[in-house]
Amino acid sequence: MIAYFNGRFMPKEEVKISPDDRGFLLGDGVYEVIRSYSGRLFKVEEHFRRMARSLRELRIHGVDTEDLKGIVEALIEYNELGDGDAKLYIQITRGVAPRRHSFPDEGTPPTVYATASPFQPPRQKWEHGVRIILVPDIRWARCDIKSVALLPNILANQQAKERGAEEAVFVRDGAITEGSHTNFCAVFDGELATHPKSNYILAGIMRETVLDLCDELDVPVKEFPIFERDLKEADELMILGTTSEIMPVVQVDDRQVGDVTPGRIAMKLQRAYRELAY
Ligand code: PDD
Repeated sequence: MIAYFNGRFMPKEEVKISPDDRGFLLGDGVYEVIRSYSGRLFKVEEHFRRMARSLRELRIHGVDTEDLKGIVEALIEYNELGDGDAKLYIQITRGVAPRRHSFPDEGTPPTVYATASPFQPPRQKWEHGVRIILVPDIRWARCDIKSVALLPNILANQQAKERGAEEAVFVRDGAITEGSHTNFCAVFDGELATHPKSNYILAGIMRETVLDLCDELDVPVKEFPIFERDLKEADELMILGTTSEIMPVVQVDDRQVGDVTPGRIAMKLQRAYRELAY
């Protein structure tokens, strides 16, 4: 596999990351995951705009996210992924410097790493739906930044896996925020509800896409916290993300959701998304 590392394309095995890299030592960096459909990048500008924002919020300077589009396009070409489903990963860290908590000396270049790999779409799960578990949201109060420091998400997702579920969904003060790697939405009486954009969720590209599709399909939307106690009233639940796309949820912990799978709105959204992206 050909990867990109600090200005050069090279076989992934030849990438050498310093043990002093602040991504390695401190989780001091940001990332993006982008889908490519037959060589077409989905909402690439939106992903890099979000990455630029994450970098700005963390005061990591020295990378022009405008240049990244050409890099990921080249990765698709070099890895011959132009005909199928692929996934791009881009990570930027605060660079290499002796370990300390405060920033490195000014002018320390950030580390930039990117890969493209084949992606197997989870079609069965889109069709039959998945199970989620609810877990306490123990994350920090800047979940809007796409940081590589993902420990609470890792622990939550592992718990889901061990309990035979697809995703762990976080609950903060009784309200559902989002999943370990997805956003979350519910349908109550034909209206789609999802947590409003805030510091407690990542502003997901798929979440935004779904809100746009709802607008086109005349599905009313309410950006409002969904309370755990109200979940049992929901007709449909979904998790949303770049790799999960629009994934119906059929079970929360041990309780069944709604009575048809996928639900009517999920199916409509999946169909509209397919036309948009594929
Ligand atoms: N995860 N919330 C969290 C915490 C996420 O990590 C992600 C994405 C999302 C959905 O965002 P988007 O629709 O832009 O992918 C929401 C990526 C895919 C990952 O960590 O692999």
